[in-house]
Amino acid sequence: MKFTVAIDGPAAAGKGTISKAIAEVFGFGHLDSGLLYRAVGIKTLEHGNGILDPVAAEDIAKHLTPEDLRRDDLRTGLAARAASKVAVLPNVRGALLEFQRIFARRDGGAVIDGRDIGTVICPEAEVKLFVTASAEIRARRRFEELKQTNADLTLDSVLNDVRARDKRDSEREMSPMVPAEDAVLLDTSELSIDAAVAKAVAIINERLEQGRD
Ligand code: C5P
Repeated sequence: MKFTVAIDGPAAAGKGTISKAIAEVFGFGHLDSGLLYRAVGIKTLEHGNGILDPVAAEDIAKHLTPEDLRRDDLRTGLAARAASKVAVLPNVRGALLEFQRIFARRDGGAVIDGRDIGTVICPEAEVKLFVTASAEIRARRRFEELKQTNADLTLDSVLNDVRARDKRDSEREMSPMVPAEDAVLLDTSELSIDAAVAKAVAIINERLEQGRD
């Protein structure tokens, strides 16, 4: 069975949690596509001693390994910033495209979260969700998550980072972050994560039922 759930939206809107829950409920494979860009970003920074060279980034994207995706520094603010900078490069996006498309159509179903899954990677996805929340609420969530490991972090700096990343992600020329025309919008500003998961599960169940008719 091929069945793709594409989940797009800005940072810290709840995409990751919702995706993991869906994968568990339906037994689908899950790919967090942000990890691909984070791994390319952090490896390119290392390669250039702090400088992001576009040619190196493309080469690194072409040769990404499963170990690169298991690095324990991919969730840092540094990796997120580097990710959104290499993500504007068409050659980097191109190098990561095929892997994501193959994953999307794997047997047994797939859920992929990112920024361009419903628009570019898998426009034929059976279910498309665009998960969002206000920048302030997303920054607060990210701050609570990161402050344990970074005592110097301030809410203001996280909010600035979130806004800068939103701007770069939505204004870039290639594959900007926009909801697909047929995506269902899920605003998690006022919605608990359990309620958001329940909505997503209901939408998927409805689509699966239609497939059986
Ligand atoms: O989702 P996450 O916050 O891990 O993504 C990190 C960055 O990777 C995003 O800010 C975005 O620039 C980039 N990205 C992307 N397309 C995707 C997934 C992530 O451009 N499908």
